[in-house]
This record gives sequence, structure tokens and C-alpha cells, in this order.
Amino acid sequence: MSRNLFIGFGTETGNSELLAMDAQRIASSNGIETRCACLDEIQVDEIKNHEYILIICSTWGDGEQPDNAQDLYDSMQDIDENELNGTHFAVLALGDTAFDLFCEAGIQWDQLLEEKGSSRFYERLDCDTDYEDDAEEWLEVVLNKIASTINA
Ligand SMILES: Cc1cc2nc3c(=O)[nH]c(=O)nc-3n(C[C@H](O)[C@H](O)[C@H](O)COP(=O)(O)O)c2cc1C
Repeated sequence: MSRNLFIGFGTETGNSELLAMDAQRIASSNGIETRCACLDEIQVDEIKNHEYILIICSTWGDGEQPDNAQDLYDSMQDIDENELNGTHFAVLALGDTAFDLFCEAGIQWDQLLEEKGSSRFYERLDCDTDYEDDAEEWLEVVLNKIASTINA
């Protein structure tokens, strides 16, 4: 497995995508080899070739995955429980506390990645509508942590 990072975003109106672009910029400036893609542009087999997996995903409908995250989420549910062994993950969840199922899609990714054998290297952040500063701070910390491990 190569020592690199996959940044995947699931989005309906682009907020998660913009954060993913920021994450890619921070990662590159820290010397981390990174692939950034929408979750409908990647297969499970490709994801598991990355040592680090960063998922940035909003919640839609009534606690549902964005359309462009649903198929990958369904595919990942079907893989074996140890399939993601050796990988490390963190999840940045976007949502709105006005909804009953706050950040549910991100919570589901967080649980699923762990169930499939990936290890959580940083606690999930659940973001409300005024998310920019908290999300940027979280990304800085997470990416610095990856960089310090990779460059150690
Ligand atoms: C129709 C609609 C449904 C939503 N449903 C939820 C929800 O169930 N839970 C939640 O936490 N946020 C919900 N949200 C809030 C979005 O997740 C939030 O606005 C997020 O920042 C959107 O990010 P995106 O542009 O990456 O999709 C909903 C927003 C809209 C417009």
C-alpha cells in the first residue's frame, strides 16, 4: 500500500466539495500525495489502496446520503469486515441542527469505515450551518497529523 491520502466528498450543493478542495491544498502544501474525488468517481478497490481516507460528506433529505455518495456507501456495505485493514480514516460531516437526523450521513460513514476494518485516526467533526472556521481548523489538525506520520 502506498503512503498517501484519498479525500472523498459527497455533496448536493458544493459545500463539501469546497472543503475537499481546501483539504487537498493543505495536504499538497504538507507534501502529502493526495487524490481528491467525488464519491461517485471512485470504487472501493481504489479507496483501499490509500493509507489515509478522509471523507467529507453532507446529509440530505431526511438523514440520507447525498445522491453522489449513495452508491459507494451501498457498495462498501457489501465488502468483508477486514477489507479496509491497514487504512486509517477520519470523517468531516456537514449538516444542519434544524434537522432531526443531524449529520446522519457522516455518522454512517464513520461507523461503516470502522466496521470494515479501517482505524479512526481522528474523531469526526459534525458541522452545523456556520461551519467554515471549525471545519478549516479541523482539516489543518487532521492533515498536519497525517503529514507528521508520513514524514516521520
Ligand atoms: C433539503 C435539505 C435536506 C437536508 N437534510 C439534512 C438532514 O437530514 N440532516 C442534516 O444534518 N442536514 C441536512 N441538511 C443540511 C445540509 O447537510 C447542509 O446544508 C450542508 O452544508 C450541505 O452541504 P453540501 O453543499 O455539501 O451538500 C439538509 C439541507 C437541505 C437543503
